[in-house]
Amino acid sequence: MSNAPLKLAVIIGSVREGRFGPVVATWFAEHARRHGSFEVDVIDLAEAQIPLELPADPPALDPDPQRPAGMTDLTRRLTEADAFVIVTPDYNRSVPASLKAAIDWHFTQWDAKAIGFVGYSGASGGLLAIEHLRQIFNELNAHTVRNYVSFPRYYLLFDGEGRLLEPDEPAAAAAAMLDQLHWWASALTAARSLPVA
Ligand SMILES: Cc1cc2nc3c(=O)[nH]c(=O)nc-3n(C[C@H](O)[C@H](O)[C@H](O)COP(=O)(O)O)c2cc1C
Repeated sequence: MSNAPLKLAVIIGSVREGRFGPVVATWFAEHARRHGSFEVDVIDLAEAQIPLELPADPPALDPDPQRPAGMTDLTRRLTEADAFVIVTPDYNRSVPASLKAAIDWHFTQWDAKAIGFVGYSGASGGLLAIEHLRQIFNELNAHTVRNYVSFPRYYLLFDGEGRLLEPDEPAAAAAAMLDQLHWWASALTAARSLPVA
């Protein structure tokens, strides 16, 4: 097995003007870099062109469809990643449409890869989106790790500069998730070279 660090893509799932997602993603990416076992790439879905109108054929029949030119960079970075952490709020108790569209436009990019979550929101702290994402990624043959980070009522937890008022517990949760993610990503990266069962 190669000793090169695994590639972790941190995906900012919300794209609306004034969103809080980048603050949470910046916080998490700093912890992921400090963890030391991943090469970290922060992917902002707002920088990609992701139409809601999907290709004519389902991904199982055409896993690599013609995609808009504005999605080329996103697709390349998803393909290169060994593991993902999705940073997501709850939108009406579920996943932002921007994130669901980015997932649905891809297929092999998720296959047999490890996925972790950082949620934030009102009372539900992103957990409702995270539970839906676990179902979605199950269909895509990805493995979602047990541990996660959640920020319910995030607006009470961060100051105006995007710093956590009480950083220790979230830092411990992030480290625990990154440990688990690294174990699974290592195992799955090795397994991806084996013949498919
Ligand atoms: C369309 C929409 C639906 C929302 N639904 C929920 C919800 O179901 N539960 C919740 O706790 N917060 C909900 N919120 C509040 C968001 O979690 C909060 O606005 C958060 O900042 C959204 O993430 P963003 O700023 O990165 O877009 C909703 C916000 C929007 C815009």
